[in-house]
Amino acid sequence: MKKALTLAALLALSACSGQQATVSADPVNVVSLGKSEITEIRAADPAPVYPKRGNSMERTFVHQPPMIPHKANYPITLKRNGCVSCHSPAKAKRMKATEIDASHLLPGDKLDNKYYNCTQCHTPQAENKQELVGNDFSNK
Ligand code: HEC
Ligand code: HEC
Repeated sequence: MKKALTLAALLALSACSGQQATVSADPVNVVSLGKSEITEIRAADPAPVYPKRGNSMERTFVHQPPMIPHKANYPITLKRNGCVSCHSPAKAKRMKATEIDASHLLPGDKLDNKYYNCTQCHTPQAENKQELVGNDFSNK
């Protein structure tokens, strides 16, 4: 009994001694991402080569959305559609671009918003020496 009391007193004393326990944390093992080993060294991928200006690509099936024969990193955002600035009926002639298909337009040549996201259907195609992704598409 006496022993238990002394222990309790000791515990109480140490609890209000105000001393912080010294925390010795384990060392953190952070490995720099820049240090990851380079295992493969090769030439850079070839830059995409698009058809000469003024050429469109042959379609492989009826009603295929024609492929984009030029780079396609024009912004399509809520406020701005970079494709329309060349392809809208009002601008196409001056920009020497193909006019947007009539199916994409509402009366008054207003773009139907269903067609706003052009690159959802039209994708750019470049003459790449190296295939970027495998493709075994057939129109048969
Ligand atoms: C700076 C003007 C310009 C902009 C911006 C532009 N295009 Fe074009 N686009 C052209 C021209 C000019 C052609 C005709 C082919 C050529 O000269 O490369 C063309 C051709 C195309 C064609 C092929 C039409 C056919 O009948 O084969 C598609 C599809 C197309 N563009 C889609 C797009 C999309 C989608 C965007 C936005 C990501 C876009 N274009 C942005 C100028 C532009
Ligand atoms: C839902 C899919 C879809 C979206 C989105 C779409 N298109 Fe198309 N587009 C098509 C299809 C399909 C055709 C081919 C129509 C046909 O030949 O029946 C086409 C045809 C075209 C053509 C060729 C017209 C011609 O006379 O040869 C141009 C240019 C074009 N689209 C531009 C655009 C632009 C610019 C946008 C964005 C503002 C856009 N398209 C959005 C599906 C789409």
